[in-house]
Amino acid sequence: RAKLTVRERLQDLVLSTEQALEIKNKLNHEIERGLGKDTHATSSVKCFITYVQDLPNSKERGKFLALDLGGTNFRVLLITLAEGAHFHMDSKIYAVPKDIMTGPGTGLFDHIADCLADFMKEYDVYKEKLPLGFTFSFPCVQEGLTKARLSTWTKGFNCEGVENNDVVKLLKEAIARRGDIAITVCAVLNDTTGTLMSSAWVKQNCRVGLIVGTGSNACYVEKLENVQLWDGPTEGVPDQVIINTEWGAFGDNDVLENIRTEYDRTIDRESINPGKQLFEKMISGMYMGELVRLVLVKLIREGLIFGGKSSDMIQEKGRFYTKYVSEIESDKQGEYHSCLQVLEELGLGGVATETDMADVRTVCELVSRRAAHLTSAGVACLLDRMGEKDVTVAVDGSVYRFHPHFHHLMMDKISELIDPSIKFDLMLSEDGSGRGAALVAAVACRDR
Ligand code: BG6
Ligand code: GLC
Repeated sequence: RAKLTVRERLQDLVLSTEQALEIKNKLNHEIERGLGKDTHATSSVKCFITYVQDLPNSKERGKFLALDLGGTNFRVLLITLAEGAHFHMDSKIYAVPKDIMTGPGTGLFDHIADCLADFMKEYDVYKEKLPLGFTFSFPCVQEGLTKARLSTWTKGFNCEGVENNDVVKLLKEAIARRGDIAITVCAVLNDTTGTLMSSAWVKQNCRVGLIVGTGSNACYVEKLENVQLWDGPTEGVPDQVIINTEWGAFGDNDVLENIRTEYDRTIDRESINPGKQLFEKMISGMYMGELVRLVLVKLIREGLIFGGKSSDMIQEKGRFYTKYVSEIESDKQGEYHSCLQVLEELGLGGVATETDMADVRTVCELVSRRAAHLTSAGVACLLDRMGEKDVTVAVDGSVYRFHPHFHHLMMDKISELIDPSIKFDLMLSEDGSGRGAALVAAVACRDR
């Protein structure tokens, strides 16, 4: 029997257009169930109400603090919004040590308050009482713009005593424990909402906020009449609201089983939240490198790559970083400069032939393409749902930013999947959690 090529062996990582369309339809079904009163509880896509109804109009002004927790970096920011869509932003990255990410909730919020105080001193606003927007990038049930109960931790966080609690209250309590700084929390928001708001400030037709970073998620503008769970006023307010889909959890009720592979099952089994965030685990940066590693280990075991030779490092969980995928795919066609460097870092430089390097690249391409195609199915679903004819999708996150082909892969695939009368664009969003958080806070404070 002729030996299988790597590409043939990995056919289960290829998503056909039919499968992408099926995913788009299933997601739409889950979104409808998420928005529905009687079906919300059992839908895997929760469609949380954000209470953000007004998009910015460029008239927002003022000085704001913001916190950004849940992406690669934890940051504190100081933003000034000024006349004519001008703004100024200062920010500082603070580390969140691993033991705090999985320790008690009070420890996490004390750390956040400490960093905030340090920042306020450094930027000379220690004595001021500024409005603050809190970008908290986890699934939350909101009860207004300033109350958000964490529904479940995702990504690498798992702090006890936070789930089901209001994170704004926990933040205020930690600030009170310090007793030296004063702030007014004006809004708590998801990073997708910040991304959408920040871009809507400069691009009027922006209606979707998308993150392809450590995690993956999207929010979009939905008509109030479609939101059965809406409990706010319906008179004298815009007839729309931003919905945080939390599509990362799509498939947690088994609807994606036909496309999940053995690698996806291993990723899930070995994660800190098995059975949860199954769509996200096929897409986002927290898992992409590890998916590639698992595929490579399988190919080694079957003798299809490196002549069956292995190294200690390639066998080590988490050792194939997601940034390697972007680096390897940045090599020019037929050149393997970055690929060789990565393989050297993994102790495989000596055994890799040119064919092996081409195969490593193929594995990266298969995994990242599948991620781009799944994300595209999601975006196509939202665009068709909204039905508007010309829409900008604001995007942020390390995978979208740094992968050399992600943007183009998505442009092509979305075009294939949507109603052809819809025009769309994908725009890299700048400072979603800074400018976006300030904008949500500005709108909220304006309304008080
Ligand atoms: C950043 C935003 O640019 O992107 C964050 O400031 C967001 O709010 C993040 O969470 C998502 O990307 P990543 O790759 O950092 O998870
Ligand atoms: C995870 C979080 C979600 C966030 C996304 C991107 O999916 O649950 O709230 O938007 O990551 O950071």
